[in-house]
Amino acid sequence: MPKGWKFIVGSIFIGSATVYGLTKYFAGGVCKCNTRLDGQWVIITGANSGIGKALAIELVKRGACLILACRDLKKGLQARVDIINEAKAPLDYHLNIHVKHLDLCSLVNIEIFAIGIKKEFPEIFALVNCAGVFYHPPELTEDGFEVTFQTNYLGPFILTHYLLPVLEKQEHARIVNVASEAHRRVNVYDLKAITTSPTEFRSPIVSYGVSKLALLLFTRELAKLLLNKGTNVIVNAVNPGNVETAIFRHFPPLANPWMFALQKPIRLLVVKTPEQGCQTLLHALLTSNRSTGQYYSDCKLCLASPLATSDKISKDYYKVTLNLLKWHLNESEC
Ligand SMILES: NC(=O)c1ccc[n+]([C@@H]2O[C@H](COP(=O)([O-])OP(=O)(O)OC[C@H]3O[C@@H](n4cnc5c(N)ncnc54)[C@H](OP(=O)(O)O)[C@@H]3O)[C@@H](O)[C@H]2O)c1
Repeated sequence: MPKGWKFIVGSIFIGSATVYGLTKYFAGGVCKCNTRLDGQWVIITGANSGIGKALAIELVKRGACLILACRDLKKGLQARVDIINEAKAPLDYHLNIHVKHLDLCSLVNIEIFAIGIKKEFPEIFALVNCAGVFYHPPELTEDGFEVTFQTNYLGPFILTHYLLPVLEKQEHARIVNVASEAHRRVNVYDLKAITTSPTEFRSPIVSYGVSKLALLLFTRELAKLLLNKGTNVIVNAVNPGNVETAIFRHFPPLANPWMFALQKPIRLLVVKTPEQGCQTLLHALLTSNRSTGQYYSDCKLCLASPLATSDKISKDYYKVTLNLLKWHLNESEC
């Protein structure tokens, strides 16, 4: 035996244990619910990629029927093939997975999508508002709103309202809004500034944080409105954690291939895979806990920021949003 072998073996052991411990720690919580969703229809926006696609695979394993709402139909159709393969579902399962066109940057398109769903599907078990953008270059949508604000907040807001009638027909429907810890990094002035002048460009990080804070406020207020209405629809927001997906394509430190490659070893340790990232979404869909208007992180209920949990701000902000969209929603949908 060479001299110092104990030191080498010991170092390898401690190194491996540290790497294992770090990956386990950063992988986050795992959904332990064994509920099945056989024959239940679930709509997932942005299901062709990242967390939405990983969730679709998990749901197919649990027997759910899916509507993949994608802005690029070609990507959606390819995702359907991948989802069936990765979930090891029979080939004819494609009959249970519909791919539909949905562009959250177009309010008209959202309405067309919703009308189609209401015609084709009498009831829907769940809507997962997963599609989103991060650090998007400054751009206005055809409706005149800043892209991040519309994709991550106004689009899901109006889509959810359009789909409430088909969700309310289910005995225990669920809405899952995919938020982010970034909501903690913005304040009430950022929220006000972006909302009162949604055509102005701000820091992409602030736009993203505000869009996710707005989604949390919406979750809280909608939950109250649905309870008051006497429906059984549960609505919660989730934080998937830091997940390795295409969402960082515009983020300067990761958009550059050299920088990306340099960070890769660390990211392998501390960033979740999409399979790990979808666990909290899955938990919010399957848990027997019937809390509503809450925020989940790592498969557990978690306290959102004081701003996001303010009843007054969530109530006022809901009205402000209706005002912004007033020409698109009629009374019965509000
Ligand atoms: N990854 C993270 O670390 C992280 C952390 C916190 C929160 N999140 C949230 O998790 C959600 C999923 O993101 P991801 O990480 O899985 O990213 P992703 O792989 O880039 O997925 C985003 C999805 O949204 C779709 N999308 C973007 N703009 C759209 C539009 N206008 N209309 C319809 N669909 C649109 C994308 O379609 P295309 O493929 O056509 O672009 C894609 O399918 C987002 O809401 C994100 O904010 C992610």
